[in-house]
Amino acid sequence: MITKEQLKHYSSKGYLILPKMYQGEVLASLITATERLEKLDGPEFFREKNSGKIRTVFAPEKFDQTIAKLINQLELRQIIYQILGEDFYLFQSKLNTKACLESGVWTWHQDFKFWKEDGMLQANAVTAAVLLSDVDIANGPILLIPGTHQEGEVSSYLNNPEGVHDENLKYMIHPSTLSSMCEKYEPIVPLLGKAGDLLLFHSNVLHASYQNMGYLDRKLLMLTFNPIRNIQEVEHPRPDYMVKRNKAVLSPNS
Ligand code: SIN
Ligand code: MN
Repeated sequence: MITKEQLKHYSSKGYLILPKMYQGEVLASLITATERLEKLDGPEFFREKNSGKIRTVFAPEKFDQTIAKLINQLELRQIIYQILGEDFYLFQSKLNTKACLESGVWTWHQDFKFWKEDGMLQANAVTAAVLLSDVDIANGPILLIPGTHQEGEVSSYLNNPEGVHDENLKYMIHPSTLSSMCEKYEPIVPLLGKAGDLLLFHSNVLHASYQNMGYLDRKLLMLTFNPIRNIQEVEHPRPDYMVKRNKAVLSPNS
């Protein structure tokens, strides 16, 4: 469970870091699980061109019970329920890694802009990102502008109409939008931490990440939880491994 102050931080800033959420054997087995995934393949797997290292695996829990168990862990379900305040399900899951000296940037965006096209109705999903490596200033932390989830949809332009999980994002924002958001809200923060920390962030908070210029591959297991009633069907849904159709409730009760 999180405290009232932590909940208030999430509500006002659009993010929250919970240090040392996972430790010891649990953390070690999650890290080992990501190493096992490197050897598998399928449409869920997006890789770097040169090294062949994983850039993203969608629905990693399909391939590994350790990850499936983590998604279903009671403490996580309780925290997400505290934030959302209603029944929710797993909307999307992915392991995003950033290979050192290789992976590119994810430029500034709001997730909801993309998820709206998957049928999401309102921007109140929450993403829980488990740090599966240490994240420092060098290896491509998530950058975020606190408070921007309160802005609603920021102005953006259609950059790459065909973009599906492409670093050349479908929608991008102009530098003037970025500067006005930094002036209106707060300076950009890099979300640094240690393996095992949990980062929670709102689906409308502006975020980005730059290249990994460090020596350590950066790994984030990103789980997006959406209220059950916050979704409608769309005519051309993305594959189920990218946007899940199974709306099984993840209850806060054991
Ligand atoms: C994202 O915005 O979903 C990607 C962030 C990252 O992996 O750095
Ligand atoms: Mn994002």
